[in-house]
Amino acid sequence: MTHRWAESSAAPGRIGVLFGGLGAISTTLIAGVEAIKKGMAKPIGSLALLGTIDVGTEGDPRSIPIRDYVEFPSLDDLVFGGWDVIDTDGYEAARRARALETDLLDSLAHELSAVRPWPGVFDARFNRRVNGSFHKTGRDFMDLAEQVKQDIVTFQKENRLDRCVLLWCGSTEAYLEPAPEHETLERFEAALRASDHTVISPSMIYAYAALSLGVPFVNATPSRTVDVPALVELANMKAPVCGKDLKTGQTLIKTILAPGLRDRALGLDGWYSTNILGNGDGETLDDPDAFKTKQESKLAVLRSILRPDLYPDLYGQMHHQVQINYYPPRGDNKESWDAVDIFGWLGYRMSIKIDFLCRDSILAAPLLLDLVFFMDLAKRAGLNGPQEWLSFYFKSPMCRAGMTAEHELSVQLDILRRELRQLKKHQPASTLVRQG
Ligand SMILES: NC(=O)c1ccc[n+]([C@@H]2O[C@H](COP(=O)([O-])OP(=O)(O)OC[C@H]3O[C@@H](n4cnc5c(N)ncnc54)[C@H](O)[C@@H]3O)[C@@H](O)[C@H]2O)c1
Repeated sequence: MTHRWAESSAAPGRIGVLFGGLGAISTTLIAGVEAIKKGMAKPIGSLALLGTIDVGTEGDPRSIPIRDYVEFPSLDDLVFGGWDVIDTDGYEAARRARALETDLLDSLAHELSAVRPWPGVFDARFNRRVNGSFHKTGRDFMDLAEQVKQDIVTFQKENRLDRCVLLWCGSTEAYLEPAPEHETLERFEAALRASDHTVISPSMIYAYAALSLGVPFVNATPSRTVDVPALVELANMKAPVCGKDLKTGQTLIKTILAPGLRDRALGLDGWYSTNILGNGDGETLDDPDAFKTKQESKLAVLRSILRPDLYPDLYGQMHHQVQINYYPPRGDNKESWDAVDIFGWLGYRMSIKIDFLCRDSILAAPLLLDLVFFMDLAKRAGLNGPQEWLSFYFKSPMCRAGMTAEHELSVQLDILRRELRQLKKHQPASTLVRQG
């Protein structure tokens, strides 16, 4: 990757954090940032704010906080905005999401209710479970993209922002097959003008709008969105992109455990994963078309880590299944079970059971915060296109053409730290290192 430092890279400045979808993960991020600013919490789960990087030598190892190694905007300099297809505000949306306690939300009501989404871009064919009555209308999809661009430009001007990052956090869209219209930017733009809803989903319209303005785009969801050659072509010219699908609960544990089993040369007959969750995401995934999108992103990881092609005796016959069941009583508190059927010496069978009682949005929010900081850093460094070094955060990491995704968490972290060192090397000390 080439690193180019633009004039504007000198100061972190004020950053607009734009959410496509003001639901559970978005409002949990906003509430968390506001709580941290008031001294009510610490940024637990944020690598950018709590992680370290080794800057010593072999003989003299020395770790320093990442936030002292590269410069990030302060939390006070983040300004939140975005779109939804329900006319709401951040406080109401957070209450509806039920991820955080009412007392906490009430103490942040002023800050949360200040975030009022603009009408979104909606197509019920992609989200049958969402009652999206608050949306834009336009001549064609290109016109809708122009309206999204106008929202961004106005927001940037009104809030005196230096840059923006768009986090796509909308409900998972129905599965979309790759199509010839996704292959080149020219064909994609023709499909936008033709309002071709068979190949263009709402999230692609947001992505097209943001990238056209040079705004970094993060796909926190499993939807195809920006992961098509046409939008990667645009991103390669204009802005960094990354995705898909935040690696939070069950998949996070999978990518921690599977490398250990492989390193011990233990075999795997099968890995059966099931989940219950009762939040908006669970309701969306109750639709088989949306679930297919999610399943695709969850299934890839084991094959890539265990490499049956290299270890046919260990993993050649493995079965991997993933189920998600919508169960309203649990709300945002997901429970996931894994039955991991392994075998060892002489083929003797053993089984590992995992019961993870997790909180979806609590795990997701700090990843979103890190992605704001790192994608803004990428933008300041002039890095365009897919950012593989941020694979650490995703279930299905986006890669440049010809590259394959890395899934192993510890390797992903090494790659991230290596890229930070590269960024530092190419950056005049005065602009990246925190002074004083
Ligand atoms: N919670 C997690 O840990 C986690 C992890 C990985 C990925 N994700 C993904 O993140 C996404 C959001 O999850 P969530 O739990 O916040 O869901 P949610 O249902 O609480 O929020 C989604 C929001 O998007 C809005 N929306 C739907 N279509 C829209 C459109 N076209 N334009 C603008 N807004 C739109 C909905 O009205 C809703 O407010 C999902 O795709 C989910 O799969 C979540």
